[in-house]
Amino acid sequence: MSGMRPTGRLHLGNLWGALRKWVSIQDEYECYFAVADWHMLTTAYDRTEDLGSNVQEMVLDWLAAGLDPAKCVIFRQSRVPEHAELHLLLSMVTPLSWLENNPTWKESLAELSKTKHADIRTHGFLGYPVLQAADILIYGADLVPVGQDQLPHLEISREIARRFNGLYGGVLVEPRAMPTEAARVPGTDGRKMSKSYGNTVDIFEEPDSLEAKASGMYTDPTRARATDPGHPEPCPENPPGCSVFALHKLYNPGWEARGAECRAGAIGCVSCKGDLLRRLEEPFEAFRVKRRLYDARTVEGILQEGSVKARQKAALTLESVRKAMKLTP
Ligand code: TRP
Repeated sequence: MSGMRPTGRLHLGNLWGALRKWVSIQDEYECYFAVADWHMLTTAYDRTEDLGSNVQEMVLDWLAAGLDPAKCVIFRQSRVPEHAELHLLLSMVTPLSWLENNPTWKESLAELSKTKHADIRTHGFLGYPVLQAADILIYGADLVPVGQDQLPHLEISREIARRFNGLYGGVLVEPRAMPTEAARVPGTDGRKMSKSYGNTVDIFEEPDSLEAKASGMYTDPTRARATDPGHPEPCPENPPGCSVFALHKLYNPGWEARGAECRAGAIGCVSCKGDLLRRLEEPFEAFRVKRRLYDARTVEGILQEGSVKARQKAALTLESVRKAMKLTP
């Protein structure tokens, strides 16, 4: 089981950090993938105008990247109200201190209070990990493919499951993180690729803007001339490492040789960027073509059907939870 908040179009960080892993496991495992729209509301409750279209755009990207509704369950969290009931019940046994000590919460609070208008010191945002625990536990999921940044949340899910089982008897499965050998994908400016930094390359970037982004990409500030020795990898001389090189590692099978050329001052950044751009053309075009195969109605149908399937599974877990808590007649 895994999920993503519907932030709209996905970027290369999402693709290499999570989505490729999802696609690669759908043949082998019984998978549930959630559009976590309630989680979106925890920080953006005052901006819901684009929620519907962001859900659409994100699911289109999932499909184009190869997620197949015939092989996995793709659903929208808010269409599976069972998550809300489990969230409520789990909130009864979750000590406040677990949430208040959650590093992600502390960091986001500091970060978001600087930039966003909405007051996010809300009950809902503090309870973010409880909702995520409900997402996972309601499917009895034992494996959760998530990036490094989600590990604290997963740890809270495990603790909640353990505490619940201690109180009411073993009903819930303790989930484990499924390691994703996530590639580091820096943004165009060398920082972590993130929508909030405005440094993303979208999976479906159109050729013109792709070219503009590639040519403006962060490389190695110590190189004034093409013949200066370069520092492609993160190192003291170039702490973030070259963003162009990071993409060569993903899209150029000859990336090691390229790194050597760069270190030797045998290739300049301009031609290295041009080469990268040529290598991105084909995979990007394949994505664009695939994405055009689906329309909004198809996406709606997939979510509808997925949510029905998800509800069937969720209802079973919820029933055993109710029984364990003596909430059944
Ligand atoms: N919190 C996750 C993120 O921001 C999204 C998410 C919601 C999730 N529910 C989940 C991830 C359940 C894994 C399992 O990326």
